[in-house]
Amino acid sequence: MIDPVAYMDNQKRITLNDGCVIPQLGLGVWKTPPEETAHVVREAIKLGYHSVDTARLYQNEAGVGEGLAGSPDVFVTTKVWNDEQGYDSTIRAYEESCRLLKRSVLDMYLIHWPMPGQGQYVETWKALVDLQKDGRVKSIGVSNFEPEHLERIMDATGVVPAVNQIELHPFFQQEKVRAFNEQHNIRTEAWRPLGKGQLLDNATIGAIARHVGRTPAQVILRWHLQSGFIVIPKSANLKRLAENLDVFDFSLDDADMAAITALDREDGRMGAHPMTARF
Ligand SMILES: NC(=O)c1ccc[n+]([C@@H]2O[C@H](COP(=O)([O-])OP(=O)(O)OC[C@H]3O[C@@H](n4cnc5c(N)ncnc54)[C@H](OP(=O)(O)O)[C@@H]3O)[C@@H](O)[C@H]2O)c1
Repeated sequence: MIDPVAYMDNQKRITLNDGCVIPQLGLGVWKTPPEETAHVVREAIKLGYHSVDTARLYQNEAGVGEGLAGSPDVFVTTKVWNDEQGYDSTIRAYEESCRLLKRSVLDMYLIHWPMPGQGQYVETWKALVDLQKDGRVKSIGVSNFEPEHLERIMDATGVVPAVNQIELHPFFQQEKVRAFNEQHNIRTEAWRPLGKGQLLDNATIGAIARHVGRTPAQVILRWHLQSGFIVIPKSANLKRLAENLDVFDFSLDDADMAAITALDREDGRMGAHPMTARF
C-alpha cells in the first residue's frame, strides 16, 4: 500500500536508522563517462531525481559535483575504494570526494567492499564513525557486506550502518543478507537493480509489463520499491532516465509481486562475491 504521508513530489522518502531521510529512488552513475556525467546529472535533476550514487572508483565525482551545482538539496552518496581503506587514508579519501563533489558535508558515505583479505574494514568503519560524529557526513553505511562483516563493525564500534548497498535484482534476491539487515534496522539498497539490463527480456517480466501497461524496467523498479528497497538504476540516456523515474503512479498486485519474487536463482549473482572479490 502506498503511504501518502511518505511522498513528496510524488516520490517516496525513507527515514534511516540515524534519522536522515533518503529518496527511495536515485540515479546510479557507474560507467557514466566522466565527460558526460555533469550533463546527465543536471538533466536527471530537471526530470525530478533527488539522489545520486557515485564512488571514487567511478572517476566521475567531479562531473557529479558540476551537475549538482545549484542543487544543494540533492542527496549525494559516494564510497571509499578498496585501495584507500584504513583510518587515515579513508579520511583523506573523504576529503578528496568532498572537494570533487563541491560539498563540505556529504549525505552518505559508504565502504565500497569489505575486502576481508585486506583486514582493514573495521579501521575504515571507525573513520566513517568519526566523520559522522564530527558532523562531516550525515549518514554512514557499507556496501557488499555479509552478515559476518556487519557483526564485526557493529561489535567494534556499537554503530549500526544506515544502509547496506548490495547486488539485488529479481534474479538475485539475497534473502540471507536482507534478513540480517532488517533484523538490525539496516536499510537494504539495491545496486544493479535492472540486472544491468539483462532482465528486461525475461518472459515473466514482459507479461506483467503488458498486463500493467508499463515497460519491463518500470515493472522491475516497482518491484524494488514495493519490496522496500532503496534503488539506484543507472542510465545515461535521457529517455530511459525519465522512464525509470516514472514509477510512482502505478502498483503491482500481490500476484505480480510473487511472480517476480519467484524469479530468484541460485546462480543469479552478476557481480563479484564479497568474500572472494579481487579488484
Ligand atoms: N556498490 C557497488 O558495489 C555497486 C556495484 C555496481 C553498481 N553500483 C551502483 O548501482 C547503480 C546501478 O547498477 P548498474 O549500473 O550496475 O546496473 P543497472 O542500473 O541495473 O542497469 C544499468 C544498465 O541498464 C540500462 N538501462 C537503464 N535503464 C534502462 C531502461 N529503462 N531500459 C533499458 N535499459 C536500461 C543502462 O543503459 P543506458 O545507460 O544506456 O540507459 C545500463 O546499461 C550503478 O550505477 C552504481 O551507482 C554499486
